Formats: sequence, structure tokens, C-alpha cells
Amino acid sequence: MKPVRPLSAVSLGVSLLVLLLVAVPATHAHNITRILAKHPQFSTFNHYLTVTHLAGEINSRLTITVLALDNSAMSSILDKHLSIGSLKNLLSLHVLVDYFGTKKLHQIGDGTTLTSTMFQATGAAAGTSGYVNITDLKGGKVGFGAEDNGGTLDSVFVKSIAEIPYNISVLQISKALSSPEAEAPMPGPSDFNLTTILRKQGCEAFANLIVESGADKTFEENIEGGLTVFCPGDTTLSAFAPKYKNLTKSQKLSLLLYHGVPVYQSMQMLRSNNGLMNTLATNGVNKYDFTVQNDGEVVTLETKVVTVKITGTVIDEDPLVIYKIDKVLQPRELFKATEAAAASPKASKGKSTKEADGPVADSPEGDAADATADSANDAGVVGPREVRLGLGVMLGLVLSVVVV
Ligand SMILES: *[C@@H]1O[C@H](CO)[C@@H](O)[C@H](O)[C@H]1NC(C)=O
Ligand SMILES: *[C@@H]1O[C@H](CO)[C@@H](O)[C@H](O)[C@H]1NC(C)=O
Ligand SMILES: *[C@@H]1O[C@H](CO)[C@@H](O)[C@H](O)[C@H]1NC(C)=O
Ligand SMILES: *[C@@H]1O[C@H](CO)[C@@H](O)[C@H](O)[C@H]1NC(C)=O
Ligand SMILES: *[C@@H]1O[C@H](CO)[C@@H](O)[C@H](O)[C@H]1NC(C)=O
Repeated sequence: MKPVRPLSAVSLGVSLLVLLLVAVPATHAHNITRILAKHPQFSTFNHYLTVTHLAGEINSRLTITVLALDNSAMSSILDKHLSIGSLKNLLSLHVLVDYFGTKKLHQIGDGTTLTSTMFQATGAAAGTSGYVNITDLKGGKVGFGAEDNGGTLDSVFVKSIAEIPYNISVLQISKALSSPEAEAPMPGPSDFNLTTILRKQGCEAFANLIVESGADKTFEENIEGGLTVFCPGDTTLSAFAPKYKNLTKSQKLSLLLYHGVPVYQSMQMLRSNNGLMNTLATNGVNKYDFTVQNDGEVVTLETKVVTVKITGTVIDEDPLVIYKIDKVLQPRELFKATEAAAASPKASKGKSTKEADGPVADSPEGDAADATADSANDAGVVGPREVRLGLGVMLGLVLSVVVV
């Protein structure tokens, strides 16, 4: 067998870079589930971090401290028979969004401090109720208490379980923090009134459209099993009104259902699960899907027609989450002219009206993109296809180097 010789220094460098990029996140990201799994006395706490999806949120953050509760401390929480939503709030009060190793814990300036928690970060906490008071007590003890708990320090530091400075620290505390605000009953799935929530949060126009079109029923039926809604704000929608008016009744319905995904997707999940996502408008004939992409903290939704950015969270109460988006999501099943096609007019001519209506045969996505790539090739420019090919070859080389 011939050895792989023709690798230039540059492509080797690039290959190594590719390898590094692939390798780094896998080795260094912390995993709270794995950390706690080594300590069976925290199995209940660990279990509920997973059930409430807090584990994923913890793994996606840096500079964080988890105040872990052993199984007996957890049993006093479970005795309260909280709903999953309230339990999530209460447990997220045990996740401090700052790094406290054992050393820092015993060196708190002035002997007392207030620190923000993930409960505060969700926006569910009112006023200072999402803060935890940490105070040096007599005899080297360190006390912890929820700020909205009348100045009572419920719990004390027991021991350090894991410290990865300054990424994550896991400290055992003696008892659960108690907070009236965090433990307050949360609406159950059937108590959510989607249109009311939307109207209160700057999505009035969207709420009106889904009621008018009858889409609200489909949205509401899906809440219990998990629902993610992407809501264009009122000004965004009013700018879109002329295009919307042009649609038939059933197309309007599809467009609105396209803004719902029948799965609960927290921001952390969206950031870590790039790829195709089906929507409430998806059926056997029409895909009505889009691609989730993230660039660092920013999550975008790409439909082949537009790229839409998530600009904020309206509500995140598992199983329902609603995000604000900066543009209307336009499915390729309804809006043919892609941005790429707009730049090369011949690609989109004469198709938009015909294909806008019913079932579109597979692969409309290809047309416009290929047309632009081809015209770029005509002009002697390297098109996306070549770039992809080049990357493929490069990856192949990387693999062969690794195998050798
Ligand atoms: C902390 O997290 C960063 C980013 O994930 C990582 O690069 C670094 O290696 C981590 N540090 C340790 C000590 O694991
Ligand atoms: C964290 O560890 C658990 C248990 O080892 C594993 O099931 C889970 O997939 C891991 N999560 C991530 C994001 O790697
Ligand atoms: C924390 O609580 C203790 C006891 O109630 C109180 O004396 C202290 O002032 C509080 N610390 C802060 C920073 O509010
Ligand atoms: C939501 O609230 C509106 C207005 O209060 C009401 O008309 C509608 O029937 C409610 N929807 C559900 C599913 O309860
Ligand atoms: C609405 O449709 C008409 C006729 O097909 C077209 O001329 C017009 O440009 C469309 N308006 C918008 C905003 O798409």
C-alpha cells in the first residue's frame, strides 16, 4: 500500500485543526449526571435534574455551582408533592450562577453575600426571590438560605463533591433551601391558555391570527405532550401582513402551524441539537420543516426562504416554551423565491405561483441553490459544490491519516 504522501503542510495543519475542533468539546465539557453518578447517595437529586431538564442547562453553562442534596434531603422535597414545574424551580434555586469552590466559600468578603441562581435566570422569579444568601457562620460553618425566606439560613455546607475551577463546582448542603416563590404551584399543562400568554407578551397579532384561523386548537392539543412556539412580534407580523393576505385559507393555517413544534425544546436543547425539525404543519405530503442552527449563543431557524433569529424567551415552563423571533418563518412550501434565487432571477421565475399551492414534489430546495452554484461556475468561480467536495477529500485524508 502506498503511504499518503501528497499532504501539504497546510492541509495537514487544517486537518489537525479539524481534529481538534471535533475533539475538544467532547473531552472537556462537564456532565453533571456523570459527576453525581459516582455518588449513589445523590441518585434522587441526579434523577430529578434529568427529569426537569436542568442537567442539560447545567452542562451548557460555565462558572456554575450546584448545591447537591443527598437522598434524605431530597425525600423532604418529594414529601411536598410539587408539580414537575415547581420542582424544577426549586431545584434551579440550588444552582448558583457563579463559581464557589470550598476555598472561596470560606473567604466570602464581609462574611456574607447574595448570589444569583438559575431560578433567577429563568425569569420565573420575582424580585430578589431567585437569590441565595451565603453567610460565614461561627465555628467555620457556612450557611445557605433563599433570599425570600425571611432571613433564615436553612442549610449548611457539608462537603465538596467535585470542583473543576472555574467551570463547575458541586457542593453538598445539609438541607433543601426553601422558597415560597420557587415552590408556588405552577400551571399544569391543561391550565396554560396559550392565546392569553401570547397576548400578554407582545404577540397579540400572532394570537389573533391563530384564533382567527382555528390553528389555536392544534396548538393547545399539543401542549400536554410538549410544545415549542416561535412567535413573531407584533411589528414583525404587521410588516408581513401583505404577504399573509395573499395566502389562501389553508395556506394561512399551514403558515401558522409552521410556527409550532410538537416537542418541548429548551434553549439549551436548541443550542445542542442542530438539525431538521418537524412542525405542527408537517404531514405526509408536505414537509414543512426547518433547520435549527446555532452560532455560539445565537440560535437561528433556516427555512430555505428566510433565516430567522430567536431573540428572546417569552415563557419556559416545561412542557410549554415560547420564543420570540425576528422574522416570520416562511416555509419553502408556500414561498418559493429564496434569497439565493432572488439574486439570480432566472432560477425562480414562473414557479412561485404553481408550487405555492399544494403538495410540492420533492427537492424544490435543490433548484435555486444549484442554479446559483451553476451560474457561479460559469463565471469561473468556485461554487459551493467544489468547496464541499474539497472538504470531503480533506476529511477523507484526515481519516486515512488517523487510521494509519
Ligand atoms: C472548562 O470548560 C472549557 C470550555 O468547555 C474547557 O475548554 C476547559 O478545558 C474546561 N476546564 C477544565 C479544567 O475542564
Ligand atoms: C452525561 O452522562 C450521562 C451518564 O453517563 C449520559 O447518559 C449522557 O448522555 C451524558 N450527557 C452528555 C450531554 O454527554
Ligand atoms: C444573609 O442573611 C443573614 C441572616 O439573616 C443576614 O444577617 C445577612 O445580612 C444576609 N446577607 C445579605 C448579603 O443580605
Ligand atoms: C383562553 O382564554 C380566552 C380568553 O380568556 C378564552 O376565550 C379561551 O376559550 C381560552 N382557551 C382555553 C383553551 O381555555
Ligand atoms: C400578492 O399577489 C399578487 C398577485 O399574485 C402579486 O402581484 C403581489 O406582488 C403579491 N403581494 C405580495 C406582498 O406578495
